[in-house]
Parts: sequence; C-alpha cells; structure tokens
Amino acid sequence: MKLPTRLIHNRSGNPARRTVNPPVERASTVLLPDREQLYNAKPGYGRMGLSVHRELEAAMCELEGASDARLTPSGLSACAVAIASCVSAGDSVLLSDSVYGPTRRFCEKRLKTMGVEAQRFDPRNADGLVDLIRPDTRAIILEAPGSLTFEISDTPRLTSIARERGIATIMDNTWSAGVFCQPLALGVDISVQALTKYVVGHADAFGGAVMTSDARYAGAIDDLLEDWGISLGADDAYAALRGTRTLSTRLHHHQASALKLASWLQEQPLVSDVIHPALPSHPDHEFWKRDFTGSSGLFSFVLQAASNHEVDAFLSALEVFELGFSWGGFESLIIPCDEQLTRLPGDWTGDRNGWLMRVHAGLEDTRDLMEDLDRGFAALANVKNT
Ligand SMILES: Cc1ncc(COP(=O)(O)O)c(C=O)c1O
Repeated sequence: MKLPTRLIHNRSGNPARRTVNPPVERASTVLLPDREQLYNAKPGYGRMGLSVHRELEAAMCELEGASDARLTPSGLSACAVAIASCVSAGDSVLLSDSVYGPTRRFCEKRLKTMGVEAQRFDPRNADGLVDLIRPDTRAIILEAPGSLTFEISDTPRLTSIARERGIATIMDNTWSAGVFCQPLALGVDISVQALTKYVVGHADAFGGAVMTSDARYAGAIDDLLEDWGISLGADDAYAALRGTRTLSTRLHHHQASALKLASWLQEQPLVSDVIHPALPSHPDHEFWKRDFTGSSGLFSFVLQAASNHEVDAFLSALEVFELGFSWGGFESLIIPCDEQLTRLPGDWTGDRNGWLMRVHAGLEDTRDLMEDLDRGFAALANVKNT
C-alpha cells in the first residue's frame, strides 16, 4: 500500500517555539536547500549528530575543561576510539594494569590484529613505566582510579614523562564523571567517559564521550569516527544530556553516602580492608587529594569469607543491594570482583584476606544501605558459626 504524500511531507517544526531542552531529532536525512549546501553544510547527515549531540558535546567540554568532545555509542567504544586514533601498525601502547577489563581486551586482542602491541604496567610504579617505554610507544592508557581496585597513578608525573617523549596519554575519567577531576588539567591528552554510568545516571542508556583540547588529537578522533561510521543515537544522547543537568547534585549524594558506608565498613569485624581513595588509609590518598576535588559512589571492600558458600550467604541476604554489572545509576549495586581480576604476577590484589567486593552506593537512604549490609554480615556470621 502506498503512503499518502501528505503523511510523508508533514514538516511541522515550529521555529518560533522556544523550549528549555533541544528537540530530539531522530534523523538520518537532513534536508538541505540547494546543491551547494548539500555538499558543504555541517551537519549534512544525521550520523554527524544534530542539536542534542551539539549540546551534549558542549556540556562535556564544560565538565572536562576541553575544547573538543565527540560522542560514541558506549563507554567501551569511546575508549577504543581514543586509543585507536593514536596508533597505527608497528606502534605499541602501554596500559595500566588496573584499566577496565574490556579496554584491556581491546588493547591486547583487537589492537594486536591491527599490528599494534600492548604491554601492561603497574599503575603504582612510575619508574617501572619509564623502563617499559620503547621507540615505538605511541600511547599510555590510564584509568583513575581503577574501577575495581582503585589505584590512582601519579598522573602529572606520568603525563610529563609521556609529553617529553611525544607519547599520547589517555585517561578513563568515568569514576569522577568530570565533576571531581579534569584529566586535561593534569596533562592528559585525551579524557574518556562512559556516559552510561554517572552522566546518564539511571541505568537506562549507553553512551561514551572523548574529550581533548589538542587539535591534532581532535582531528584524528574525528577521522576515525567518520571512517568507522561511529555515532550516538539521538535518544541516548538526550538521556545523557538530561543526566548532565543533575550530575553534580547526584554525585555529591553518591559521595556522601559512599564515604559514610566506607567509614562504617572499616568498623565491621567481617571486613578486612576498605579500598576507597578518599580514606586516609588508601595507599594513593595523597594523589587523590592533589588531583581530585571529591569522590564518587564506587569503592571496594574485602569481605572475610572463606568459601563460595560464605559469599553466597552474604549476598543472598541483601535486599537493597542488587547483583549486577555497571554502576553510576540511582540504584545500589554490589559485585564480587575476583572472577574478573586478571592482573600482572605479584600484583597486590592477590595478597588479600578475603573476597574483593565492589560496591556502588546509589541514591537510597544510607541507613537502609547499612542495614542491608548488616543483614549480609549476620548471614555470613551465621554460616561461619555452623
Ligand atoms: C571504567 C569504565 N570504563 C568504561 C566502561 C564501558 O562503558 P560501557 O558499558 O558504556 O561500554 C565501563 C563499564 O563498566 C567502566 O566501568
């Protein structure tokens, strides 16, 4: 059946109406008035992004103190784009041992097929990193803090080592969401965020952003997005833009709640360690104080459980904390991390008295979260006593 022409030609946009938010233009085709503009207008095609994308890019530049921001369909694709834009066949990269697992897999597996070698370094050993730099090293990949084990490198030192040698530095800044840390001000060349986490904030959309203030990197990122045809859908861009409006308010709540929980966990008999950069006991606390203005809702603790049975007893007693991947949303989450920790030999994470548990403190009442963990500890104690 043919569609009536009137139904197709229904251009009802009202240019005189002002709204608080930009319109979500779900568009591949952009209609252009003449042949000259057909080939020169920007954006001339929906894949380049429209009003919502431009506002989101501007918001990300504002947050990160960047002059350029580009959007991708997920946090992982943002990491991959940032890294791939700095290398070509015959190059090598160095990546912190604490980076997000799939980013590491991208470097160690996908880059390899592209003729690029990847080697890991200990995020706490800047001198060791210098020894690993080779003439073909093009990029150093950081994450601050590591999102399972929370190491913070001496970023200004690493970026100056890299700059002296013409090596690009890339940092995953998802933990601070740009509210509590601006990597570019620490000398990092390209900052990356998984918008999926705090920016979207409601666990209902994916997105990634790549920020830089260096025109050379911005150009290389643009080329790569264009060549690979990578873009963020308008609805997800809108979800992220909306998230930016409440980001700082939410982050301050996540921060306060996580800090209360972390201090309280330090007092619990079945917890042997709490790993939170804002605690003075954290080995990188001084770097955190210097490079960050706050902390978010994500941290880890070591649960004194001796077996799967004991961990399961703890987890299944929880009613507020749910088991699930991702973080940064309004809901509290917990995961045992050991199954995804594949680290360099001798790494400190092997030297633990218990299971590494990662917590995301959501926006619930902190007292409810404590009561919930208490239920878990009671169940664990019960299993230990039987
Ligand atoms: C630190 C960090 N970076 C990047 C990502 C990837 O984000 P996405 O799930 O949007 O691909 C994640 C996801 O968990 C993450 O934790």
